[in-house]
Amino acid sequence: MVKKLFLRKKLQADFVEIDEEHHGLKRHLGWLQLIVIGIGAIIGAGIFVITGTAAALYSGPAVVLSFVVASIICVFAGLCYAELSSLIPIAGGSYSYSYVALGELPAWIIGWSLTGQYLFSASTVASGWSGYLASLLNDWGIQIPHQFGGAPLHYEIGMGWSLTGAYLNLPAVILVLLIGFTMFLGIKAAARLTNVMVVIKLATIALFIIIGIPHIDTANWTPFIPPNLGHFGDFGVSGIFRAAGLVFFAYLGFDTVSTLAQDTKNPAKDLPRGILGSLVICTLAYIVVSAILTGIVSYKILNVADPIAVALNAMGPHYFWVVTIVKIAILAGLASVVLVQLLGQTRIFLAIGRDGLLPKTFAKIHSKLRTPVTATLVTTIIAMILTGIFPVEILGQLVSMLTLFIFSIVCLGVWVLRKTHPEFERPFKVPFVPWIPLAGIVCCVAQMTMLPLVTWVQILSWLIVGFIIYFTFSIKNSKIRIEHTAAEDD
Ligand code: ALA
Repeated sequence: MVKKLFLRKKLQADFVEIDEEHHGLKRHLGWLQLIVIGIGAIIGAGIFVITGTAAALYSGPAVVLSFVVASIICVFAGLCYAELSSLIPIAGGSYSYSYVALGELPAWIIGWSLTGQYLFSASTVASGWSGYLASLLNDWGIQIPHQFGGAPLHYEIGMGWSLTGAYLNLPAVILVLLIGFTMFLGIKAAARLTNVMVVIKLATIALFIIIGIPHIDTANWTPFIPPNLGHFGDFGVSGIFRAAGLVFFAYLGFDTVSTLAQDTKNPAKDLPRGILGSLVICTLAYIVVSAILTGIVSYKILNVADPIAVALNAMGPHYFWVVTIVKIAILAGLASVVLVQLLGQTRIFLAIGRDGLLPKTFAKIHSKLRTPVTATLVTTIIAMILTGIFPVEILGQLVSMLTLFIFSIVCLGVWVLRKTHPEFERPFKVPFVPWIPLAGIVCCVAQMTMLPLVTWVQILSWLIVGFIIYFTFSIKNSKIRIEHTAAEDD
């Protein structure tokens, strides 16, 4: 019975059939394109929204160091993703790797965590989008009524949950609805759009840096690490680590590169370059932007939905048009991240549905549109509810927690597969195994302990829901289990 919970997929044959959409695809991506795709998926609400919250609530100007801490964890995890994705180059990412390396139950836990990660992070980015839209409209004298401009729930450590008086974050809900509709129709142009978006996002960051530097008041950086206020994570050194847990969100997306192994010309060289290259570029961009942001205005006023806009507005009225252009660019950039994430979620539902761990309807592809209809519908509806009701900081921390959890399992997977299947050819190998995967696991778990108690309660609640689904539905319908039982009967 217990053994069956850890039934593993075989490495090669099974996966070719799962990856129908990639079947026969030409290997056309080089490392440069992978870096571009990585940046497209990575830069979003993390830098444009969450940096402000992290600086204001936990770390002050030292948020710069929080970005460095978070990037180190990502490098360890990134190397492990590179090895697994070149070894198991298929859709489903870490869910599929775990099915091979660790077995069904761990794979389900990862699939369920990925579902949470994608849904919550798309909702977080959509909330961020709504904040920037409100800020842009406000500049033009248009106010979104308070009742429909934000989440009805608010959470503050020590104070708990409270009501904001709003009914719904309507702009965020509408954005998710429009994106859901686009996904439903099929979006082949998404990849081309990504290139344009990367240029827009990097140009926006460059513009912010260029016009921001002359407005830095170094007094805002003093003290660089504000003294601790008496609680763990309330500024001081512990605040840097707590903020790192939050800004970790900003790096999410590099794993998207690893799912493109089958499209890559030379996975052994191009994948690690793509993953690590996009991480390095984003880390540099984040360090510079967060330093300038906290240099222009005091970190104390940055706990808002549009911190970059707050800094730009503080520069004076003659920057009005620059501010407008930057806000529009940020809106476009954030919308593209929501799209990538929701699309990623439909892929996860598809993969899990095909394995029978969720109802088969999740794996159904519309005959004409060639899109997974149920997966798209369910993804869109849940994301609309989440983004409409929950505040951005709560969703963001939960996403960081889920991601750290997933990364630690990916690192574990590298180690386990090296032991159980040393004979497999690995186009890319993590150096210094087991030390690098081990360092990845230790860093992820340590970073998880830095996140507040409420986030632990949330992740546990999410996993409990996952276990209920697994033990009431998945266990009876799992394809691999049914095949295994049939083989036993024979
Ligand atoms: N890294 C992505 C963002 O910051 C998820 O929006």
